[in-house]
Amino acid sequence: MALLPILRYPDPRLHKKAATVSVVDDSIRQLVRDMAETMYAAPGIGLAATQVDVHKRVIVIDVTEDKSSLLVLIDPEIVDRDGEQVCEEGCLSVPGIFDKVARSEHVRVRALGTDGESFELDANGLLAVCVQHEMDHLEGIVFVEHLSRLKQTRIRAKLEKQARITA
Ligand code: NI
Repeated sequence: MALLPILRYPDPRLHKKAATVSVVDDSIRQLVRDMAETMYAAPGIGLAATQVDVHKRVIVIDVTEDKSSLLVLIDPEIVDRDGEQVCEEGCLSVPGIFDKVARSEHVRVRALGTDGESFELDANGLLAVCVQHEMDHLEGIVFVEHLSRLKQTRIRAKLEKQARITA
């Protein structure tokens, strides 16, 4: 297992669109293990492969308090959604920034698991937010891009300044 470096906004690689996996082989299972280890170590509640510069449709999520329930979504698709919720979000690629984003309250997701089998999952509340946030990453969208232009400019300037200080 290995900890993977996490790309930081505004890294242009965060805007790449991830490719479909289709065949879940040992290399994908290794990627999932490394991503899970990276997410737990951060610590975070979700990580998309895009954030570790692997542009494949793979997501890991664990929203439980005791980190006991790893959810792996490969080639996820939202097949149904309803309702609306506004939740304060953060992102491992945008450290120290938290802001409110409107998302669907419920999503039904179809995905492949690490066994390559298709399954469907109903997600509500925080889990639904997390699924939508991570699926945005696979499309090259970072959560701050749901905020106003002014906020995005401020966040970009703040993170570029931090990167210069820590470089
Ligand atoms: Ni994120």
